[in-house]
Amino acid sequence: MAKPTIAVFASGTGSNYQAIFEAIENKTLICDLALLVTDQPSAKVIKKAEGNNTPYAACNLNDYTSKNTFESAILEQLRIHKVDWIILAGYMRLIGPTLLQAYEGKIINIHPSLLPAFPGLDAIGQAFQAGVKVTGVTIHYVDEGMDTGKIIAQEAVKISENINEQQLQEKIQLIEHELYPKTIQQVITSLTD
Ligand code: GRF
Repeated sequence: MAKPTIAVFASGTGSNYQAIFEAIENKTLICDLALLVTDQPSAKVIKKAEGNNTPYAACNLNDYTSKNTFESAILEQLRIHKVDWIILAGYMRLIGPTLLQAYEGKIINIHPSLLPAFPGLDAIGQAFQAGVKVTGVTIHYVDEGMDTGKIIAQEAVKISENINEQQLQEKIQLIEHELYPKTIQQVITSLTD
């Protein structure tokens, strides 16, 4: 049977993209990484994709007349590369109706908090400022809302007394890099409930 094909969407550094790439290389994640999509033509993740020979599409919303035409251009790329699943990894834009309809139930996201707590931007900073003792990582299906789709997996991270925000971010990212490839594998082979 053919392996499922994924596209990773990212806007920034791309450490999760890199973790996914490495899991595929190590064969702990069995799929084809057909495409990286970015909405930031100068994002650091592009250099990583070039280094790994992952094909990429850099689409700048400003070059399009609407979000619909922007997403239609992305959709065309996804179809060219025969993409089955969209994996959001630090993609800093809400997914609109064009992609949601074309990939219904086939888009997942990772968020650095225990949703529904601290949705949206700077979730780690929000948790740190709130003084909570536990935060974490959530992987969820994507719907039209901001970090609101059905939760697939979560892992808690303790915020110890003497940790600073930077250290908390590093701790969370280490967990993300383990949990995301593992969860993607479960989702694309339908092993979740
Ligand atoms: C991650 O913390 C992820 O949870 C959030 O954005 C960050 C992306 O980091 N959605 P990176 O670009 O993968 O390093």
